[in-house]
Amino acid sequence: TDTLTLLGIESSCDDTSAAVVRQSGEAAPKILSNVVYGQTELHAAFGGVVPEIAARAHAEKLDLAVEEALSKAGIGFSDVNAIAVTAGPGLIGGVISGVMCAKGLSAGLGIPLVGVNHLAGHALTPRLTDQIAFPYLMLLVSGGHCQFLIAHGPEEFTRLGGTIDDAPGEAFDKTARLLGLPQPGGPSVEAEAKSGDPRRFAFPRPLLDRPGCDLSFSGLKTALLRARDAMVAEKGGLTRQDRADLCASFQAAVADVLTKKTARALETYLAENPETPTLAVAGGVAANQTIRGALETVCADHAVDFTAPPLALCTDNAAMIAYAGLARFKAGHQDDMSLVARPRWPL
Ligand code: KG4
Ligand code: ZN
Repeated sequence: TDTLTLLGIESSCDDTSAAVVRQSGEAAPKILSNVVYGQTELHAAFGGVVPEIAARAHAEKLDLAVEEALSKAGIGFSDVNAIAVTAGPGLIGGVISGVMCAKGLSAGLGIPLVGVNHLAGHALTPRLTDQIAFPYLMLLVSGGHCQFLIAHGPEEFTRLGGTIDDAPGEAFDKTARLLGLPQPGGPSVEAEAKSGDPRRFAFPRPLLDRPGCDLSFSGLKTALLRARDAMVAEKGGLTRQDRADLCASFQAAVADVLTKKTARALETYLAENPETPTLAVAGGVAANQTIRGALETVCADHAVDFTAPPLALCTDNAAMIAYAGLARFKAGHQDDMSLVARPRWPL
């Protein structure tokens, strides 16, 4: 038959994940299972992901995740047509753990191996969840990534621009740390911002004066640090309201930069692809209601469809890797034991 069943493996950051995705011909792909073991509590005391701790946790959990993914899908290894694994980009210890696990299964069981670019996994997710048509514009905004991509096909992407320093999620996490709020910073800063004044602090909007779709977020963090220290020096500390205003002003600056650059990316994209006016967003930061609302408005202004996969598939997961691997496998690509784990791997 023309039914393909892929086992996906993801371990490039702080989620250990295994999933099974099946597709019959051109029918809608089905996620049969998607097991994700997070590591938040392991890194909590350190204020960020510790690569060595992450790699060890992946090595411990990967085989369990694979076993659970198969059993939840109700299949065995003999039903798997290929194993797709994230081969980069990411924290190299974690990527190596995943690649070694996939190679072991592939070699031991004689199942074909497919190396997948993690970013392609994110970028193809809107097709996994909603079968949206190529081409489309994609905005990836997470703790590790921030870029605009045009997806022309399963293995064909054009990068319009991206962050030249921090990713927005990273900026949210650092902001939370500076203000003594819990990690991950995104949700806690968003909650705090609800009772804050977004106009109290005029934080910078870096790179808006420059053409193109590149973004920058590290200056924002520095500005926030200065504003905090100035208040501490002046009156010995921050009030609850000061903290809320800092969060709201920070969030407004991120939303502003993202929406203005999205408008620019849309204009570039639409000039060449007027027939498929679609923006898809993915990544943990897309969960932010203020940012999401602002992006929806830009899309409405440009008569562009806005789509965002459900949050569980926006963040790191192996279903997206299985699906991206399925597309590669279908196109005739396969890897062997020479597959390498890559810390950097631009699309
Ligand atoms: O996609 P993701 O789970 O992992 C990767 O970075 O690949 O994204 C996690 C990031 C974290 O930095 C987190 O603080 C941020 O997304 N995030 C948010 C929100 N929820 C998660 N940022 C802003 N607002 C949120 N509601
Ligand atoms: Zn990711």
